[in-house]
Amino acid sequence: MNEFMNDPKIDPKIIVALDYPDAASANRLVTQLDPGLCRLKVGKELFTAEGPALVSSLVEKGYGVFLDLKFHDIPNTVAKACAAASRLGVWMLNVHALGGRAMMAAAREAVDQAANPPLLIAVTVLTSMDRQALNDVGLAGEVRSHVLHLARMADECNLAGVVCSAQEAPLLRTEFGNDFLLVTPGIRPADASLDDQSRVLTPAAALRNGASHLVIGRPITQAADPLAALHRIHAEIQNF
Ligand code: C5P
Repeated sequence: MNEFMNDPKIDPKIIVALDYPDAASANRLVTQLDPGLCRLKVGKELFTAEGPALVSSLVEKGYGVFLDLKFHDIPNTVAKACAAASRLGVWMLNVHALGGRAMMAAAREAVDQAANPPLLIAVTVLTSMDRQALNDVGLAGEVRSHVLHLARMADECNLAGVVCSAQEAPLLRTEFGNDFLLVTPGIRPADASLDDQSRVLTPAAALRNGASHLVIGRPITQAADPLAALHRIHAEIQNF
């Protein structure tokens, strides 16, 4: 972990998930937040609706943007997509490790050629997939062993880390050391509603498990006062 990790003004650990259908509703939230206290995650819904212009506008406002498009295609196509994302000035982007070693290597090379290379991370196994769903697509064995195997491939391809559940974080932190980024969704402050998440951890518990960054959506986006909710989470994790 780098020396700035504990300074939220330099490396905010909280990534707010902008799960909105359009720029107007996303911007209503963004204007209430502070780029020194959080990053923003733009996923497939918002990006498909609003495209690169919205991403660029968030970058111009000073936010670190995690472009969560989970690229998975032939190496050349993924490399070109990663180059295009890098030109937008995003802070982080991701690919599916299941795209394979050649695809991750091509993504790595494309990102390295950018003027300001974003952090490149991988998705291992989607947490929506259980053992049966994996077996159904021909992947036999335990979910955990696939997660570990795919994370190792990502590490060997020099990716900066993985998206994972906070429950998987202790194993991955032990295996891959302190510099490997572990970006974890499924986070709920102690007093927050679970919404549709089932296996959740509090922000402090996730960090104790080894998470480097926390993806948090509704506990902030649906709060009556989103900035106050963000400050409360910062207070909660200050001495995790
Ligand atoms: O509102 P909430 O905090 O549940 O939002 C979590 C965000 O993280 C959403 O954008 C969701 O799609 C994403 N995510 C997740 N679980 C995963 C992977 C991503 O909740 N396993």
